[in-house]
Amino acid sequence: KAQEKAELLEINKQAAQYFYYQLRTEKGQTGLDYLKNRGLSEETMRKFGLGYSDRAGGGLYRYLKAKGYPDDRLRESGLFNVDERHGMYDKFWNRVIFPIMDVNNRVIGFGGRVMGDAKPKYLNSPETKIFDKSRNLYGLNIARTTRKKYLILCEGYMDVISMHQAGFTNAVASLGTALTSGHASLLKRYTQEVLLLYDSDEAGIRAALRGIPILREAGVNSRVVSLKPYKDPDEFIRNMGPEAFEQRLEEARDSFLFRVEVAENEFSMNDPQGQNQFFERCAQMLLELKDELERNLYIDAVVKIYRGRYGISSEDLRKRVNTL
Ligand code: GTP
Ligand code: MN
Ligand code: MN
Ligand code: MN
Ligand code: MN
Repeated sequence: KAQEKAELLEINKQAAQYFYYQLRTEKGQTGLDYLKNRGLSEETMRKFGLGYSDRAGGGLYRYLKAKGYPDDRLRESGLFNVDERHGMYDKFWNRVIFPIMDVNNRVIGFGGRVMGDAKPKYLNSPETKIFDKSRNLYGLNIARTTRKKYLILCEGYMDVISMHQAGFTNAVASLGTALTSGHASLLKRYTQEVLLLYDSDEAGIRAALRGIPILREAGVNSRVVSLKPYKDPDEFIRNMGPEAFEQRLEEARDSFLFRVEVAENEFSMNDPQGQNQFFERCAQMLLELKDELERNLYIDAVVKIYRGRYGISSEDLRKRVNTL
């Protein structure tokens, strides 16, 4: 069993080297151009071990066969598809490749992106005996060594890489899956606080709302960063640069107040009925806070946001919480 895992790690390592080398060949020029066009430096590509799989789609299989690995083991690696007509063939072809490392810098899987608009945009290794998506975070092998007081959690490979290149080496991403309690306890090992930098779309907001209680449960505080009007950290940095990005990080929103503000959008705040329902929702959320001091602090914070508009006082809101 341990032998098997070691062999899978070995196969992944060989595959990463193969992809890495392919990016530097003549055929790999398309991949190199793509990554350069996205603003990545050679140094960044090297740091993340980025690679390329060419259009032919049989190269990796031949490469690993030549090294003597049996088909059974190669199949378990998740790097190949199998069908009756073609036998085994490379899963990744005509893509730029992002090797995924665990915290010990071992290659446990891969992501591959098409270089245009084809679908699917990203392909990822399936879960294998060495690749558990719910217990690994992309970029954590590097981010763990930074001494920042928080880690940045985002959606994508390119977001992590752009942030690292811009000097924000404390960025990590979950691997195309929702945040799990496994991720949260992994984060807890390295930090007390996480800044959520999910995409500025509806899905990103929902992902943040789902992530906040999972982090809290694991004992990790979180705050939420808005990247609007840009779509994600990569786009923000490319358009606005590192200083403006740093500024956004400093403006990170308290995750409880973020939830309150998202909830506000669900009510018609132009009439007393909608306002009343909204404050009812606020009261319910405040009731989740079991510590009295903490709850009082948040009552005051919520009131501070809405007092001007709706004339609500801390007493009003506290009374509402106490009626629940
Ligand atoms: P770029 O377009 O390269 O900037 O990618 P992105 O990271 O901005 O893409 P997006 O916000 O759409 O997706 C975030 C992350 O979800 C990606 O980095 C992938 O890990 C994952 N993902 C996106 N599209 C797909 C897909 O088609 N299939 C799978 N399996 N995962 C995807
Ligand atoms: Mn899993
Ligand atoms: Mn997205
Ligand atoms: Mn993007
Ligand atoms: Mn995105």
